[in-house]
Amino acid sequence: MCGIVGITADPLITGNIIPQLIDSLKRLEYRGYDSAGFAFIECGADKLLVLKDKGKIDSVVKRHRVGSKCGTTGIAHTRWATHGPPSQRNAHPHADCRGEIAVAHNGIIKNFAELRELLTAKGHRFTSDTDTEVIAHLFEEYISKGMSGFDAFKKVISLIEGTYAIVLIHLGEPTRIYFARHVSPLIIGVGEGFNAVSSDIPSLLPLTRRIIVVRDGEYGYIEPYRIHIEYEGAKAEWRSRIRLVTWSIESAEKGGYPHFMFKEIMEQPRALYETYNGLLSAAAEVDKAASIISSADHIFVTGAGTSYHAGLVFAYYMSTITRLPVIPFIASEYKAYEGLGGRRAVLIAISQSGETIDTLQALRAFKARGTRIVSISNVIDSTIPRESHQAIYTRAGPEIGVAATKTFLTQILALTLLSISTAFTLGTIDSREKEDMINELEKAGKYAAKGIETSIRRIETLTDVLKNKTNMYILGRGLGVPLAYEAALKVKEVSYIHAEAYPAGESKHGPIALIEEDYPVIFIGASPSKEYIEKLQGNVMEMKSRGAFTILIGHDAYNGIKGLDYFVSVGNPSELLAPYAITPPLQLLAYKLAVSLGRDPDKPRNLAKTVTVE
Ligand code: AGP
Repeated sequence: MCGIVGITADPLITGNIIPQLIDSLKRLEYRGYDSAGFAFIECGADKLLVLKDKGKIDSVVKRHRVGSKCGTTGIAHTRWATHGPPSQRNAHPHADCRGEIAVAHNGIIKNFAELRELLTAKGHRFTSDTDTEVIAHLFEEYISKGMSGFDAFKKVISLIEGTYAIVLIHLGEPTRIYFARHVSPLIIGVGEGFNAVSSDIPSLLPLTRRIIVVRDGEYGYIEPYRIHIEYEGAKAEWRSRIRLVTWSIESAEKGGYPHFMFKEIMEQPRALYETYNGLLSAAAEVDKAASIISSADHIFVTGAGTSYHAGLVFAYYMSTITRLPVIPFIASEYKAYEGLGGRRAVLIAISQSGETIDTLQALRAFKARGTRIVSISNVIDSTIPRESHQAIYTRAGPEIGVAATKTFLTQILALTLLSISTAFTLGTIDSREKEDMINELEKAGKYAAKGIETSIRRIETLTDVLKNKTNMYILGRGLGVPLAYEAALKVKEVSYIHAEAYPAGESKHGPIALIEEDYPVIFIGASPSKEYIEKLQGNVMEMKSRGAFTILIGHDAYNGIKGLDYFVSVGNPSELLAPYAITPPLQLLAYKLAVSLGRDPDKPRNLAKTVTVE
């Protein structure tokens, strides 16, 4: 969940790498921001410099005047604390006893305590509480025994247990960066006169668009003109693995918006348009996945956080369009499904990053039992799609804000196309119905734009009403339930206001006990059907008669229901288009609440964009 980056360059070609190192690290800040640090070989000097501190990157750079330094080979790290509280001593990179080796790490070394004990007994002096520091001392230990740098690095990798993406530099080999990956993500940026490694693609976009995804268990090194990758002692061929990333630099920048979250909410019409067209031109991906699903006798869907909520929307459409039951489960709970799956089953694994450890572990556990895996991801070649039998890619572009926004709606779009294709494969719908639905989905982007346009003013006023509240309920029925879960997650994670979602009918079975004068309850009106409207009307009255402040965000058809204090229209989308019209206003509400309360919506406290620890 930390971000790591390393750049090694020929000084005659690129000059000082420090500005690039700072820039690339800043693009990783969404992965953690408890502390930051840099280690580099100083230009023209036989010296390794480590500058690190508690706090966000900008303040660390300023405090230590990092921008005024000159380096040729360097690594950097932005931290989401696991072992040891955020402090200068615990900030990465960590050095060995002599200050000649520096290492930055994302992940957890499980056996660090025993290694530390062993190394301490050999006279190594530790200066932090982290699990990572053992790597620097182990490397030092083997170098001092006369091993070559690469042999020492391989020895270190063979001794550590846990999850890791590691970058390591050594004064003795001033143009080389060692790297290794086990579970935590790592990519190589292929340059001319330089090469780079990073936790993700957007951080390297200003440097290069040519990337190689380092695979699980791979390790090696980069130099300005050399890339060497190995797996289990054998050299890996990497040239054929270079991917040209089509994401633009602008797509990973704020472009005039105050926050990435706002930009990414507003970008949804385009992201949906691109995902729709991309998937239609790659229809074979969806059709192959649909045929895997059609031949399964059990369908599971999993993911974490927002991706799980997209899975719930999928389960809804699979039931209403395809008429097939789907078993959704939260990825971290995969153990509870231990005896299930198998050759006749399929698991749909959803992950925008493609690297979430819980989802990956669920995938691996099901796959080991012979289950076919279909995945939905936004990041090409990431681990989850690579380990699936069939991957479907959304085309949302890079999502930098910690809160998932555009990836949620593009996941839903891909999953809805999958439901339609499965329904057709099974004969539940005919080719005409299939075509009609696919044509209707073309309007997803238009409805997202309309949802924003028609609601934005009303959401601003609503923000003023809600910003001083400490709790709220968000209730829906049918399709409104997963949209309510997602809205509550957004409100919680960026504004820190406690928001809880329930199926509206379930609210009578306990949650209603909390209702008192002016307690805010947001209802989601997703389906324009008479039955849903009548039932939600009942739920509104139940809350209103107990003094709740009642709000409804939804389809025009809900306008005029009794007992509402506030109504936000999103136009009149069909049930197939409702998520695209309803979700953006709810995301905007979360965003505006966060900003009005002085929170940073792009970097909510305690959170990281990609969760790579269980
Ligand atoms: C959503 O806003 C969150 N930040 C989080 O719940 C996220 O959706 C979850 O960690 C899953 O990430 P993934 O889609 O990359 O697997």
